[in-house]
Amino acid sequence: MAPPKLHALFCLCSCLALVHPFNQQDLNPVAHLKSSAWLSKIQALMATANSGQTKIPRGNGSYPVGCTDLMFDYTKKSTFLRLYYPSKGDDHTDTVWIPNKEYFYGISKFLGTQNFMGKILQFFFGSMTIPASWNSPLRAGEKYPLIIFSHGLGAFRTIYSAIGIDLASHGFIVAAVEHRDESASATYYFQDQSAAEIANKSWLYLKIVKRGEKEQSQRNEQVRQRAKECSQALSLILDIDSGKPMKNLLDLEFDVKQLQDSIDRNKIAIIGHSFGGATVIQALSEDQRFRCGIALDAWMFPLGDEVYSRIPQPLFFINSEQFQYHENIEKMKKCYLPDRERKMITIKGSVHQNFADFTFTTGKIIGCMFTLKGEIDSNVAMDLTNKASLAFLQKHLGLQKDFDQWDALIEGKDDHLIPDTNIDTTNQNASLPNAPGINSI
Ligand SMILES: *[C@@H]1O[C@H](CO)[C@@H](O)[C@H](O)[C@H]1NC(C)=O
Ligand SMILES: *[C@@H]1O[C@H](CO)[C@@H](O)[C@H](O)[C@H]1NC(C)=O
Ligand SMILES: *[C@@H]1O[C@H](CO)[C@@H](O)[C@H](O)[C@H]1NC(C)=O
Repeated sequence: MAPPKLHALFCLCSCLALVHPFNQQDLNPVAHLKSSAWLSKIQALMATANSGQTKIPRGNGSYPVGCTDLMFDYTKKSTFLRLYYPSKGDDHTDTVWIPNKEYFYGISKFLGTQNFMGKILQFFFGSMTIPASWNSPLRAGEKYPLIIFSHGLGAFRTIYSAIGIDLASHGFIVAAVEHRDESASATYYFQDQSAAEIANKSWLYLKIVKRGEKEQSQRNEQVRQRAKECSQALSLILDIDSGKPMKNLLDLEFDVKQLQDSIDRNKIAIIGHSFGGATVIQALSEDQRFRCGIALDAWMFPLGDEVYSRIPQPLFFINSEQFQYHENIEKMKKCYLPDRERKMITIKGSVHQNFADFTFTTGKIIGCMFTLKGEIDSNVAMDLTNKASLAFLQKHLGLQKDFDQWDALIEGKDDHLIPDTNIDTTNQNASLPNAPGINSI
């Protein structure tokens, strides 16, 4: 694993890019990271680095978990996703967490650092694996409910594996899409068939959206594209399920034909984090095939006012304690209309990054300093997120499982949970301390 100092450096960069743009709105991340204050902070913080082991947890369900990547069609309009699924066994090798160097370059660009940081990150995290068998055959003989997962700003398809793996281990097929709206740190596509044949990738990196007048309309455009991409991914998987012949452009060992008749077509939900949480809400309002949705620490800013009244499906908000602020919660509350099923819980001592894998890849002290970890143990926070989600999914997809044992969590009944929110929405004076700009890896 990476030596402590590099963790420190990595976390430090993350921290600054994550935190400072909110407070110093006119200073872009590049300018900020180059300032000398930043350098002296690196030195101070490197000294306090610790070497906590970095590990993505195994799923707690009874199914072994497999993982593959699927890409269909060409150009930016193609669909790209990582699939987590119940597998026959776990005899295959573990899945590489971040499989291309360009993702590290993308993160480094997102953080406003130069290529050398991408190289360092790649060197230390490039071979890290997650506990899912790469291209292992699908476990046959059962139809599985399907989850479409949408990532946050600056993230990409592979870094919510703790959630994807846990859901798959409980008998779900999870399709984590990679968005092409320039909100991913990096993503790639093939321009045409000949490019795909020689694996000539076209890379697309994150676009920095400036704060100001046009920000909302740009973010709104992105969230609409994201919702379309989720629906498109769903349509493709359902096509494969009904036997339409499809070729995975990535030419991997996993034969997509195995997915034929594998999906329980009436049991489909959508989950997402941050920008992906907004995507959940947009997608629910546009696509009734999604029977319910779970928004993890949703960032509501990108949504247009018209969507709030257009979500008939049940919706569950799982929030972190630290990220949420008045204006954001108020928007969530606009989704609460008569006869609509809405739930909200807040995980005590948690931060925005508790939902993404990075929370497991750094030591405790460093993780806390850089708000990749909260005061709450990352495993406990993930466990609560997953169990509450499973209980909610069982209820609203009508599953015949034992996830109702965690029903109390949906109501926020646990020592680590706050029912509803920690934000006082009656206080009109409240400001927005944690308002996000660049808010998510
Ligand atoms: C790869 O694709 C790019 C962009 O489409 C093109 O400019 C380049 O010539 C291609 N490379 C090869 C080896 O075909
Ligand atoms: C599995 O359960 C353990 C113990 O309850 C918990 O610490 C861990 O976070 C859980 N894993 C996931 C992926 O939820
Ligand atoms: C809001 O601020 C005003 C003036 O600062 C104060 O008088 C009032 O009590 C505050 N209201 C609440 C609900 O905190």
